Amino acid sequence: MRYLVTGVTGQLGSEVAQELLSRGHEVFGTGRKEEPPALLYGKNGFSYTAFDLADTDALRAAFEKASPEAVIHCASWTAVDDAEKEENRETVRKVNVESTGVLAKLCAKTSAKLLYVSTDYVFNGEGTAPYEADSTDFDPLNVYGATKLEGEKVVRETLEKHFVVRVSWTFGRYGNNFVEKMIRAAEGKEVVKVVDDQFGTPTYTVDAAKGIVDISGSEEYGTYNLTSSGGYVSRAEFAAEIFKAVGINVKIEPVKTSDFKSPARRPLNSRLDSSKLKAHGFGILPDWRDGLKRYLAER
Ligand SMILES: NC(=O)c1ccc[n+]([C@@H]2O[C@H](COP(=O)([O-])OP(=O)(O)OC[C@H]3O[C@@H](n4cnc5c(N)ncnc54)[C@H](OP(=O)(O)O)[C@@H]3O)[C@@H](O)[C@H]2O)c1
Repeated sequence: MRYLVTGVTGQLGSEVAQELLSRGHEVFGTGRKEEPPALLYGKNGFSYTAFDLADTDALRAAFEKASPEAVIHCASWTAVDDAEKEENRETVRKVNVESTGVLAKLCAKTSAKLLYVSTDYVFNGEGTAPYEADSTDFDPLNVYGATKLEGEKVVRETLEKHFVVRVSWTFGRYGNNFVEKMIRAAEGKEVVKVVDDQFGTPTYTVDAAKGIVDISGSEEYGTYNLTSSGGYVSRAEFAAEIFKAVGINVKIEPVKTSDFKSPARRPLNSRLDSSKLKAHGFGILPDWRDGLKRYLAER
């Protein structure tokens, strides 16, 4: 199949493109950087175009050139704190909402499928119950989450052949993620402060990419949560597993999210219930601890 994948220079998009190519699909990748990641460079079946998603004319031109049968929209403004700044808000909306609307309309017009990658940040994270895929308890706490939710809505309203796939707590080879942050934070330290009141499921992007490609190849349209298996943990528990796996001997001092001042509020409960996947015939992802080991071996 011929795919358009946005954000192939990012953590998730790079792995999605790689997974599609390994299954023999043609991939037209887009990003903002001049060059695609080394992982994709020169690969058979892969082509790349760089442009800013805020430029919807460039997006339309790329779509026409690619003439895709399916689109996987991974690109997004992901800098959660910077999204709060007044001067950035219009651009965040353009990137996360308007570009999604343009893609949705183009897909509807050409009968292409659209898979939109979303986030647990569409919820407020109150309580402890995992969010089901079809939950409509939307209440984003920050601009990033609000614009991702608007993206979800525009996709649902514009075309039938859509998938909304929410991931959370991802870590991958191409990007700044929690694993790297923790390893850096522990350098030369005896004690590292880590929040113990945010809960979720860490997810390796290689595994998420496989799940996303499986879903995109189906006709089981709708909304899914897609995280690794292995249960829910706190950030502090995740950090402990990272330090153990890397062999770093550092003490974790548990702290609360409210102890850290940041421009954007963040949900404490990022537990996503991925069980809808199984009900629609999709496999479940491997345990996040296993993903972490593979990531550390491959990084
Ligand atoms: N990381 C997480 O924990 C997490 C959690 C929940 C959901 N998600 C969702 O997962 C998806 C993928 O995120 P990720 O972790 O791969 O993020 P990432 O590593 O930050 O990658 C973001 C991608 O979007 C592209 N992009 C951003 N702004 C752009 C613009 N104005 N024009 C063109 N391209 C632009 C980036 O291009 P350049 O690199 O070339 O600038 C990059 O390819 C997003 O939809 C995100 O909302 C991520």
